[in-house]
Amino acid sequence: MQQLKRQLADAILAALDAAGADHGQTTESVYGMLEYPPSPELGELSLPCFKLSRTLRKPPQAIASELAEKINLELADASPTGGYLNFKVSPEYFTRGVIQKIIAEGENYGRSNEGEGKTIVLDYSSPNIAKPFHLGHLGTTVIGHSLRLLHEFRGYRCISINHLGDWGTSLGKQIAAYKLWGSREQVEQGGVDELVALYVRFHEEAEKDESLWERARREFALLEGGDPENTELWKWFIELSIEEYKKTYRQLGIEFDYYLGESFYSDKMAEQVELMRQKGLLKIDEGASIVDLSEYGMPPCLILKSDGTTLYPTRDIAAAVYRYNTFHFDRCIYVTSAGQSLHFAQWFKVVELMGYPWADRLVHVPYGTMSVGGMKLGTRSGNTILLKDLFKLSIDKVKEIMSEKGTELDDADKVAEDVGVGAIVFGYLANSRIKDISFDLQEALNFDGNTGPYAQYTYARTCSVLAKAKEAGYSAEAYTGEYTPNAAELELAKALSLFGEKVDDALAQYEPSIIVRYILDICASFNRFYNSCRILGAEREEEVRFRLGLVRATNITLGSALHLVCMRTPAKI
Ligand code: ARG
Repeated sequence: MQQLKRQLADAILAALDAAGADHGQTTESVYGMLEYPPSPELGELSLPCFKLSRTLRKPPQAIASELAEKINLELADASPTGGYLNFKVSPEYFTRGVIQKIIAEGENYGRSNEGEGKTIVLDYSSPNIAKPFHLGHLGTTVIGHSLRLLHEFRGYRCISINHLGDWGTSLGKQIAAYKLWGSREQVEQGGVDELVALYVRFHEEAEKDESLWERARREFALLEGGDPENTELWKWFIELSIEEYKKTYRQLGIEFDYYLGESFYSDKMAEQVELMRQKGLLKIDEGASIVDLSEYGMPPCLILKSDGTTLYPTRDIAAAVYRYNTFHFDRCIYVTSAGQSLHFAQWFKVVELMGYPWADRLVHVPYGTMSVGGMKLGTRSGNTILLKDLFKLSIDKVKEIMSEKGTELDDADKVAEDVGVGAIVFGYLANSRIKDISFDLQEALNFDGNTGPYAQYTYARTCSVLAKAKEAGYSAEAYTGEYTPNAAELELAKALSLFGEKVDDALAQYEPSIIVRYILDICASFNRFYNSCRILGAEREEEVRFRLGLVRATNITLGSALHLVCMRTPAKI
């Protein structure tokens, strides 16, 4: 639809020019004004003339009528209704233009090179070693990855960094707990679960024995000083953890370009702290070094503790400088829970005050909290729900459903994983990211609801129609000929034509939910079409060909859209 919108915008601009008035518009501004009318009788696109009425000093109705007369377009009829200029687009545009374009472009449909030459660094997932990789990290992991895929779809060079929480006193606690109660065999066997259990135990015991806090601080100080035993333990813990995270990432189809934890910046902070000092930004407050941000309505940003050790913001500042010097990013995007919004606002401000000209390229993308309703998940860490446990539960449920349905597939385990994990990802990403949500696994797994399995199932349906067509000797690419579409066919073609704009919107708002809702629109239109139109059994040959073209175009668009939100697309379910 973008192409058509641009054509309309050009034609409207030409008509405005022809009217000779000083309208102050550009193709871009007119493009931005175009709307989708609420009902099909009003046409497919519409230009509200109210804004123009101010500059042209004429009533909107008069502008709409005048423009309607002046505009001459083959693809669309322009007619005024009230203050709106409505465009009735010829069905030909959708059936022929859109469908053929999608089939011809295939996987490239919806892509562009607008980001060529630009670099985006994305910081997401970033769990904390020693603490569980839990539900709260689902958002950063899948929103972050989807944003990466969306940017790549538009030609940006993307660099993903897992900013592991591998530094700070929590590591001291972990080391202390291991030395006190752990053993090599235990951790080798139990892996990260065992580490988390030790960490949990540390907190329980520290409630009774205050001296443990001091012990943890000592262990961390030793680690910072390069003590060989602690360094070896610490490296081992990180290795174990990354190995474990990678299992979850593999299920999600995620790979990181870099694992650069907070520790990586331990030798890069002094220089930044020194720069803050030189710029007169640092103040001493009860022994700690802070940057006062009261002028900007924020509490101070803590840079150094009174014992001289660095803090989370200090590491983030050093990391941003390193990333800029290394990758020269056009944007650096951080995806974390909204609970960290203040943290980011504070240190972004500090970077600006330090005089870094790229400070305005830092973007924080926050998301809301997630709770899981009505489920029992046994974990070893109290109330925390581990991501891998949630995935496993969902995969097991899908296996149950598949065996109840009597599904027989060669790669049943793989499909169950794709559908089980996909149900969670899709169910989660269906919500605007900033909303706090309560997640219901039962609902997310309903094959008949607006869910991941339903979307994947619809995709598989397109695959099976195309496979049957192939057996029957049809090539869907051979769609040609004149054809007048019925309402269901036209509705589907229109839905497919919107893909490019949906990607634009999702990128502009950092909002993968736009793609998820779009996927649901396509599925609804496709299933209405599928249930009302015979495809291979249609009476006329041109009907068969046209409908196969439509199925193929759906297959392409739906497949690409699903991939953009971290969903797999099994051909059979
Ligand atoms: N490790 C942090 C957490 O689990 C998230 C890190 C986000 N990235 C950053 N550069 N601060 O809450």
